[in-house]
Amino acid sequence: MDLFLKDKIALITASSKGLGFATAKQLVLEGAIVIINGRNEKTLSNAKRQLDSLPESRVIAVAGDVSHPDFSDRLMKEIQYHFDGLDILITNAGGPPAGSLDDFSIEDWEKAINTTLLSHVRLIQAAKPLLLKSPTPSILTITSAAVKQPMPNMILSNSIRSATVGLTKSLANEFGPSGIRVNSILPGWTDTERVHDLLNTRAQFNHSSIEEEYQKQALESPLRRIGKPEEFARVATFLVSPVASYINGVMLVVDGGMNKGTY
Ligand SMILES: NC(=O)c1ccc[n+]([C@@H]2O[C@H](COP(=O)([O-])OP(=O)(O)OC[C@H]3O[C@@H](n4cnc5c(N)ncnc54)[C@H](OP(=O)(O)O)[C@@H]3O)[C@@H](O)[C@H]2O)c1
Repeated sequence: MDLFLKDKIALITASSKGLGFATAKQLVLEGAIVIINGRNEKTLSNAKRQLDSLPESRVIAVAGDVSHPDFSDRLMKEIQYHFDGLDILITNAGGPPAGSLDDFSIEDWEKAINTTLLSHVRLIQAAKPLLLKSPTPSILTITSAAVKQPMPNMILSNSIRSATVGLTKSLANEFGPSGIRVNSILPGWTDTERVHDLLNTRAQFNHSSIEEEYQKQALESPLRRIGKPEEFARVATFLVSPVASYINGVMLVVDGGMNKGTY
């Protein structure tokens, strides 16, 4: 199926690794012009190099921290320098640290709110004028399946992601009349560096091996495995594409059925 993404301009933040990188790759494969981002310049240029090796790849890399208050405006200026508008905005950021209530100070909470909620707000505010120039504008926030079913020892993510989902649903209503679609994907356990680190920490805590922790997590899923980044990326790419033109305000769980609730 043609997703009509050829020559569309897509920005995806926090995309030098993991879910963001896999999505950037899928967008490149579909013919989009892709702007990638991450804080570490070396990791980012390595990601760009990998994407540049794909056929007909057109990728721009902009280094910076999405939790920094000035970064979104700087990023949009850079995009405006190259292009007349923006068709797709995918807001992603690194996840907050694992832990329970006693592990975090109020400053830790504020830092997590800044990265996990306010980065989405700032990016969307800054990108809106550019998106309004597109005939097929679309925003996707990357959140977490923890919104549907809180995960053990992940109190920051469990709490703050719900606000990002509230933001997404509110904006689907607010932006709908101007044609901008706004959706969210709530990923479940997907095999990225972050998950590797989280399971490594669990292995140390449980005096087990990381392989055992992967196995335990896989058994939580009806499919008996955790997801692959490209499985997430294909869904994200479809949702932001013009083909999904009547999907708006959706909070799509991509977790292999791990969430056992009906809704
Ligand atoms: N993988 C999963 O199973 C899963 C499940 C639910 C939710 N999520 C959420 O989905 C998001 C992506 O997860 P992932 O597994 O892909 O993580 P990952 O493998 O750790 O990759 C994170 C990417 O984001 C970049 N990044 C981190 N903080 C950033 C910041 N402040 N500004 C700009 N770039 C930043 C990193 O590069 P630099 O470090 O160089 O900046 C890297 O490219 C996270 O919020 C995570 O909590 C993931």
